[in-house]
Amino acid sequence: MRITVTSEPLPETGTVVVPVGRDGALSVAARTLDESARGLLRRALAAAGGPLEHGQAIELLLPAGLPQERLVLLVLGKPEGTRRLDLEEAGGRLAAKLGSAKASRASLASTAGLELGCSPSEAAIALATGCRLRAWRFTKYQHEKPEEPQPRLEELALHLGSEEAEAARSLLVREEAVIGGVLRARELVSEPANVLGPAEFAQACRQLERFGVAVEVLDKERLEALGMRALLGVAQGSARPPFVVVMRWRGAEQERPLAFVGKGVCFDTGGISLKPAQGMEEMKFDMAGAAAVFGTIQALAARKARVDAVGVIGLVENMPSGTAQRPGDVVRAMSGKTIEVVNTDAEGRLVLADCCWYTQERFKPAAMIDLATLTGACIVALGRERAGLFASDDTLAQRLLAAGEATGELLWRLPLGKAYEQHIKSEVADIKNVGRNREAGAIAGAVFIQQFTGGIPWAHLDIAGTAWTNRDTALAAKGATGFGVRLLDRLVRESYEAPAEER
Ligand code: BES
Ligand code: MN
Ligand code: ZN
Repeated sequence: MRITVTSEPLPETGTVVVPVGRDGALSVAARTLDESARGLLRRALAAAGGPLEHGQAIELLLPAGLPQERLVLLVLGKPEGTRRLDLEEAGGRLAAKLGSAKASRASLASTAGLELGCSPSEAAIALATGCRLRAWRFTKYQHEKPEEPQPRLEELALHLGSEEAEAARSLLVREEAVIGGVLRARELVSEPANVLGPAEFAQACRQLERFGVAVEVLDKERLEALGMRALLGVAQGSARPPFVVVMRWRGAEQERPLAFVGKGVCFDTGGISLKPAQGMEEMKFDMAGAAAVFGTIQALAARKARVDAVGVIGLVENMPSGTAQRPGDVVRAMSGKTIEVVNTDAEGRLVLADCCWYTQERFKPAAMIDLATLTGACIVALGRERAGLFASDDTLAQRLLAAGEATGELLWRLPLGKAYEQHIKSEVADIKNVGRNREAGAIAGAVFIQQFTGGIPWAHLDIAGTAWTNRDTALAAKGATGFGVRLLDRLVRESYEAPAEER
């Protein structure tokens, strides 16, 4: 879907969307149409019955007295105040509505005249952003059936006054960069594992070079030389070799970079601790942490964020085979710690152990944030509403929670601590890769990773429940969500970007 900005008047054909207030107030554009159609819009709002609700879209076909085929009244405004995210979500609902109405093109009128706590250009961009995020679907492998063509919104034209249009165009550049990162992350997550294995993912990272990102691909020999035996142990059951990719966007000279680390298990069968067949196909998404890191670096580079950010992803496939690691094996991580692999299905933490250690040792980052579809236990605890947040540093935790509230990528903080570290004590090695049966499973995963963070400010996001959605949500159709990209982009914008240079 494409967003365009214009200061042309609304077209006299096709689908036109005009904002109205929750209290029945008409925007300037709505008032104009209402006048030429002799009160049609006011009558339609009254006929809608009951209190109007933010995000509601009232559709009028062949509106009497107007030339357009379809008029959509988009209700905006929340009694407690309208946030940017509320407008994005309304845009998402609009996309769903236009999609089911089979409109391929629509024109959105300015919100001028409504009290939304932001300028018409900001409101238009927020609405359009939600629209784009919600309209995206992964259809690459589906042939279109002529008898049931896929309804798709292809273009949304934002009609604004000429000054507002100017402002909207510059806001749009930044927003498109972030949307691009989200959609790229979704694409990577949606690809089946036969198409996107570790090598293909590593190759895809090279695409970031055209945004000015420095990309380094570490192959198996290099990982062996570095001593990443925890990661290599996971990979050894697969015919496809592992890779670690380092992506660096240097948009500013900063003393220490900000680091993102991603779990990139391109497919997780569980290994010798094999998962049940039921639902195993979902495990193509087990590289969603790595995809979020990729998408974040892309977004930051595309919008030329004034930050030094490094992304490190560990790409492997967890397979059972004659060369696979066994339950009970002991591996030595790059840090020197020995790990008893009690369950080969707890592989994400093994991959992250080496990636986190490598990242903190090489880059000495100001903060390190890892993202991983780490535990089913996190879904049990928080459902699909929030990702688990674990942090060694309260400031970092607060910043992440705030970024989550602002973007709708919600987090909930769960504890770390000495008592939980007891859960991963091993009889035969320094630590083991599982906790005490089903107790505190998400926390056991987090304290395990923490052993490899070298004491720098660190946060872990368990995105097992949020990387994929089984139902349509406000900003994502069923499927991959790209969770993490908007969150981390916001975190950077709010807390890590260098101030703009004065000119
Ligand atoms: N990738 C899974 C986590 C997962 C499970 C995500 C289900 C989404 C849905 C991870 O590698 C895993 O298998 N974790 C185990 C850990 C256990 C063996 C300690 C789990 O959660 O069962
Ligand atoms: Mn697993
Ligand atoms: Zn996994």
